[in-house]
Amino acid sequence: MSVRRRELLLGGAALGAGALAARVPGGAGAGAAAPPVSGDASLTTAIPFDSAHQAGILDPRPARALFVSFDSIAGSRGELAAGLRAISERARALTTGYAALFGPPGEGPTPDSGILGTRVEPDALTVTIGLGASLFDGRYGLAGRRPAGLKPMPTFPDDALVEAECHGDVLLQLCANSEETLLHALRDISRETRGVLGPRWKIEGFLPTPARESGAGRNLLGFKDGTANPDVGNAQTMDDLVWTGHEEPAWARGGTYGVVRIIRNRVEFWDRVSLTEQELMIGRDKAKGAPLGQERELDDPDYASDPDGNRIPLDAHIRLARPRTPETEAGRILRRGYNYSRGYDEADQLDMGLVFVSFQRDLEAQFEATQKRLAGEPLVDYVVPTGGGYFFLPPGARGGGDWVGSALFV
Ligand code: HEM
Repeated sequence: MSVRRRELLLGGAALGAGALAARVPGGAGAGAAAPPVSGDASLTTAIPFDSAHQAGILDPRPARALFVSFDSIAGSRGELAAGLRAISERARALTTGYAALFGPPGEGPTPDSGILGTRVEPDALTVTIGLGASLFDGRYGLAGRRPAGLKPMPTFPDDALVEAECHGDVLLQLCANSEETLLHALRDISRETRGVLGPRWKIEGFLPTPARESGAGRNLLGFKDGTANPDVGNAQTMDDLVWTGHEEPAWARGGTYGVVRIIRNRVEFWDRVSLTEQELMIGRDKAKGAPLGQERELDDPDYASDPDGNRIPLDAHIRLARPRTPETEAGRILRRGYNYSRGYDEADQLDMGLVFVSFQRDLEAQFEATQKRLAGEPLVDYVVPTGGGYFFLPPGARGGGDWVGSALFV
């Protein structure tokens, strides 16, 4: 249903998407939120949508994620802008929480899917919006406003990309504590954007229960994943590595570039490999997560005293990904991936792996430089990138009537 059609159903004649938000649950006209009905702190955890930078980039990962890429089917620049604005307006409400309004019986579509009950709790939801290079073609007059470093994701040597799972004009990354919160948010946002954004691909991710063990959670190869990451608490490091600056046009400063890669793990083959061989491929102890030769997960690998790779092979994943030389430290990436699992393929092999997600200020100097060093690593026999894309994540919305991407349209 198009934005306009839904507006008509709601009784408004020619409302913009902003006016629409006042009429739907949690919209600008909804008044003060009702007190929470649940005492569960995780349900009431709210991560503000409005901020200098978008949420869902530096925030700790909640247990669940959903990535959807859309093609724009907007007939005009104005419709596209209204659709993007509607995403921010709904995201602002959904990430705050509100009393769900089901509507009177028998009177048109119910305003809320109802899958969260009578109260929509924030549940640590973040809604992060990305724009693909294809959005900056000739359709909406945006060609001259493309972020300086944005381009379509290339095919790397070890990729087996499936076109239907790649690229897209607009990416939504939704993260929350529970799957039902993600699905509620997706349905809520989709009903406001149906005539503007058509789905292209979608993938859901999860993390292991944190109570299972301390430190980083495990990926589906059974290794701790996410241990070595730049310090998100260090603002200077984030400015250097993540947030865009003066290299970009004014509207795109304070954003970042997001890479999403759907990387299937060949788990049946991997499970037949010895522990020693697995550890040499990664460069870390499988049980402890420590770099080989070290004791603790957070210890740094000692490459200086191992120049020939006797402890950590020169082609181990962590050594190639980040050799820790002065030149490569400036090219670090911020990883924020999730595991995925989606049944069996036609050959009865499990289809599971990693939704690799990284954020960086410069795609070529950071992500691509890392990816190129990893080309041909021993791990490539067990991991197969099948989809994903490159997206520019604009700076955050500034509150009030502002929305993510608004500066692109002025
Ligand atoms: C399914 C594919 C992949 C798997 C299973 C995997 C697994 C791992 C594991 C187990 C670690 C060590 C723990 C940690 O520090 O987080 C690690 C580290 C790392 N990986 Fe991957 N990875 C994959 C793909 C990638 C890709 C595509 C890139 C970038 C192009 C990448 C870049 C890195 C980096 C930068 C580190 C940290 C190295 C360090 O700072 O010492 N990984 N990965």
